[in-house]
Amino acid sequence: MNKRSSISGQLAVVTGAASGIGEAVVNRFADEGARIVLLDKDKEKGAAFAQNLSSRGIDVKFYECNVTQEESVNVTFDSILKNLGSAQILINCAGGFFENPSFENVEESHWEEVLELNLKSVYLCSRKVVPSMKKSKYGRIVNVSSQTAREGLVETSLPYGAAKAGVLGFTRRLASELAPDGITVNAVAPGVVLSPRVAELHKERLPRLLSEIPMNRAGGAEEIADGIWYLSTPGASYITGVTLDINGGRYMT
Ligand SMILES: NC(=O)c1ccc[n+]([C@@H]2O[C@H](COP(=O)([O-])OP(=O)(O)OC[C@H]3O[C@@H](n4cnc5c(N)ncnc54)[C@H](O)[C@@H]3O)[C@@H](O)[C@H]2O)c1
Repeated sequence: MNKRSSISGQLAVVTGAASGIGEAVVNRFADEGARIVLLDKDKEKGAAFAQNLSSRGIDVKFYECNVTQEESVNVTFDSILKNLGSAQILINCAGGFFENPSFENVEESHWEEVLELNLKSVYLCSRKVVPSMKKSKYGRIVNVSSQTAREGLVETSLPYGAAKAGVLGFTRRLASELAPDGITVNAVAPGVVLSPRVAELHKERLPRLLSEIPMNRAGGAEEIADGIWYLSTPGASYITGVTLDINGGRYMT
């Protein structure tokens, strides 16, 4: 394999790894021979997934981690560094929303919960990998944003739209700061992917949502994972601060 497309043997940390896009990223990285750390707050699902991968000879470890909690993130990443060494790749994938109140009905608690899960978590996890990436003058950080950060979609929660747009601002700002250190920071903005959460959330409006996509279908989680994989390779060395839209043509720049 061409070295520039190989992440074989690299240590990759994936948050929200037990389901949906995170799960697909783990499967893609496993195919590429990476060493993978799965982080998820769902202990049962995460541990079962890791066990399944291990039984197929894949080098994985699962850590139960709540990426919105500073202490949980710090303890987890310190343990990864101590036991497995420095991560070359971080995929900030944990996120989402579960309800979509109109603006006047957005409670402060909902605002904070969604911002913490989708934006603060990206800051908390990124700051734990950057010091060792700086030392080795190499790193790849990919943040999972959303199409809702690119255009105003009423189908998604208002604080979610704000948080995912914040992820793009964070990505660009951090990319500039870390560019001299050989660390790239990029984002992907997926359109509709029918993870269990999203299939349930949008079940009534799904036919209309899909009809608005030029390809007339939802994206596969593995199609998002392919984009994330590319941005995680050594070969994506001159790409930083970008947002890769993966949405079947629904939003084009
Ligand atoms: N599915 C879509 O259509 C879509 C579209 C655009 C963006 N996204 C983004 O992609 C990412 C994955 O979404 P999905 O729908 O594929 O996955 P999902 O909702 O099926 O899974 C998310 C995973 O994250 C974990 N998680 C949730 N809160 C956590 C926390 N505090 N700490 C650690 N783990 C936590 C969950 O346990 C779950 O395993 C999210 O950031 C989401 O916002 C999804």
